[in-house]
Amino acid sequence: MSSIPTRRDAIGTLAAAAFGALAPGRAFGRAWEPRPSGDLPYGAAVRWSALDHDDAYRAALLERCRIIVPEGEMKWADLRPARDVFQFENADHIADFARRNGLALRGHTLAWYGAMPEWTNAIATAREAERELVAHIETVVSRYRDVVSSWDVVNEPVPERPASIGDLRPSVWTRCLGDSYIATAFRAAAAVDPTATLVLNEYDVEFVGGRFTSRRDSLRHILRKLLDQGVPVHAVGLQGHLFAERAIDRDGLQAFLSEVKSWGLKVLITELDVVDKTLPTMEAERDRLAALKVDDFLDAVFSAIRPEAVITWGVSDRYTWVPIYFTRNDGRPNRPLPFDADMKPKPMMAVIDRYLRRDV
Ligand code: G3I
Repeated sequence: MSSIPTRRDAIGTLAAAAFGALAPGRAFGRAWEPRPSGDLPYGAAVRWSALDHDDAYRAALLERCRIIVPEGEMKWADLRPARDVFQFENADHIADFARRNGLALRGHTLAWYGAMPEWTNAIATAREAERELVAHIETVVSRYRDVVSSWDVVNEPVPERPASIGDLRPSVWTRCLGDSYIATAFRAAAAVDPTATLVLNEYDVEFVGGRFTSRRDSLRHILRKLLDQGVPVHAVGLQGHLFAERAIDRDGLQAFLSEVKSWGLKVLITELDVVDKTLPTMEAERDRLAALKVDDFLDAVFSAIRPEAVITWGVSDRYTWVPIYFTRNDGRPNRPLPFDADMKPKPMMAVIDRYLRRDV
């Protein structure tokens, strides 16, 4: 047995630490002290409906996060109940929370196939689509220019199963504008806020398998085409929704990340969590395996590039999207995030912390 603890041994140790009391000085409720300079920022997606009333949730966010991102409040469905209406109330609450607490805010998302209000189905021509898309981006980006440091300008442009390298996921934007909607969105965002980091955000490019390889290749193709056109895209958002039963494609991910790095692009991990539907019932074992999956993923990413930030799609199991689609057969609540439903840190948080401090 080697005397050098493997990463798996480290997880075991971390699990013990994570189940112990919080480190001194980290009692919830204290304003989060900035990490020593040089550490990567950690952040999480937030819900105003929880932020507004859940003190423990708010304390956990302030204790650990330097970045927050609205889980839904800046999507078209939330912002645009009608063609001539912008409804900013909840997005403004989150932006004000970020301003009051000195947090960076990510904007999610300016152009997506999902969470689109019914009225957008009536958009019929290229001229109308471009007008609506650009007007939306101009209005939203200018409103939050003081606090949003990076935008998911285009979210998930790649289809589930790309039929060809240039295949795009159908949306009102592709229907009316073809692939030009992507460049249009990035250019509109850059024109309003030339200082923001503009991100192309995608999922299911992290795993072993033909479908995931083709998605990674499609994402690479879109990025290369944008750069060749001089479009202001600055970073790739790896969402990082890790399915416990899927192997991380270390070689494929490293090759992809090394290539986009050579093109001058940055990388953010934007929506990290573990879909634990297939993991064992026993919570300690489930948490240990979820932490290992995060470790596998982060080790693959960090061995190719140091991301700008690590952001999880929520901070606590108390509020997560996962059960919308992936409820467990044993009926037990999903445990996808770094803090459990009682706001106690799990081994996953200790793994993330280790990478935030890692110099590569
Ligand atoms: O607010 C309404 C509520 O009034 C209504 O009673 C309820 C019942 O339908 O729906 C509520 O809206 C839900 C919304 O989340 C707010 O909770 C929508 O139905 C539901 O579809 C929506 O799901 C979100 C999903 O994106 C679609 O926008 C998830 O919370 C959110 O976590 C998920 O996040 C996505 C990222 O944006 C992109 N990457 C994948 C990630 C996970 O799917």
